[in-house]
Amino acid sequence: MQIEENRSLKNHNSFGFDISAEYFIEVSNEAQLISALQWARQKSLPVFILGGGSNIVFTRDVTGLVIHIGIMHYDANVISNQHVEVRVGAGMCWHELVARTTQEGYYGLENLALIPGYAGAAPIQNIGAYGSEVCDTLINVETIDQQSAEKRTLTNDECGFSYRHSIFKSEQGANLIVTAVTFRLSLIDKPVVQYQALKDAIKDAGLTHASASDIFKLVCTVRRSKLPDPKDLGNAGSFFKNPVITRQQLDAIAAQYSDVPSFEQTDGQFKVPAAWLIDRAGWKGYRNTHVGVHDKQALVLINHSGGSGKQIALLADEIKSDIQNRFNVCLEREPVLY
Ligand code: EPU
Repeated sequence: MQIEENRSLKNHNSFGFDISAEYFIEVSNEAQLISALQWARQKSLPVFILGGGSNIVFTRDVTGLVIHIGIMHYDANVISNQHVEVRVGAGMCWHELVARTTQEGYYGLENLALIPGYAGAAPIQNIGAYGSEVCDTLINVETIDQQSAEKRTLTNDECGFSYRHSIFKSEQGANLIVTAVTFRLSLIDKPVVQYQALKDAIKDAGLTHASASDIFKLVCTVRRSKLPDPKDLGNAGSFFKNPVITRQQLDAIAAQYSDVPSFEQTDGQFKVPAAWLIDRAGWKGYRNTHVGVHDKQALVLINHSGGSGKQIALLADEIKSDIQNRFNVCLEREPVLY
């Protein structure tokens, strides 16, 4: 086993924070993962599982063993004249997976193009964008239990998916390390085009009919225009979830701001874009010395350079309490804080 000591994680987190791991190993298969877990257990060291590092705010150095998931495989199995099952290793880059399936004529992931991170992290927070969520096409998730090293495969139902949530974010599933994910994709080119921003992009491109491949390209263009590439500007995508509020809360906001956008949920509550609240509160484009709020999408916090996780966490707290005071809405953080 190749374990490194005091390894910098600067290139392993999308904020680009220069913190280090006490011990670090990259595993490329399940057997290596189990050996690494045993090594840490023998030394009574805590374990931190690291994927693409695009949903984490490191506020300090990591104690114990960081296991970087590098399990990469891709198998496609056509199961009928309409469907194909694609099973991939947790360490595969998500966007490469979307690009490859779309190119091979396996449809269903195209709306999720350019989301940073690895395939194994996709079910953890049920990634979603432009009208699709990972739970729409996912069949099962293969895992290894961090404590017992036992393998367990969870079906879509067992994953308990909801908006940006799954069993893996709860106490019940927190011990499960994702090793592979299987999707059922369609051989029929019939993309999901209901999301307003996507409809606008299709219209702007002058398309009367958009193929999955067109959607893939349009989503890439729209994302590039709004969301900063972590290679240029450290960030973790949306920093807060879109809050779901009661009618009374919404009415109170609407009394002051009649243009508040809202989306009614099946339970009679309303989802409001966190970006709108943050934007309206005047934070869009805000910048202190090292960190700030993106000027094209108010939901994205930025490390301009030389910033720290502590500074980002502080800024997030300031925004959160301002939104609470102004709109009586509680924002919930999306990335994990370490
Ligand atoms: N808006 C503003 N100011 C802004 C940005 C947006 O007022 O700076 C308002 C507009 O009214 C806009 C609405 O917010 O219509 C929604 O904005 P957008 O379509 O950009 O989506 P979002 O709700 O801000 C969500 C996801 C994104 C995903 C987009 C597209 C969450 C927390 N975020 O953002 O996901 O790409 O929809 O589907 O659900 C991510 O999770 O990292 C991420 C980028």
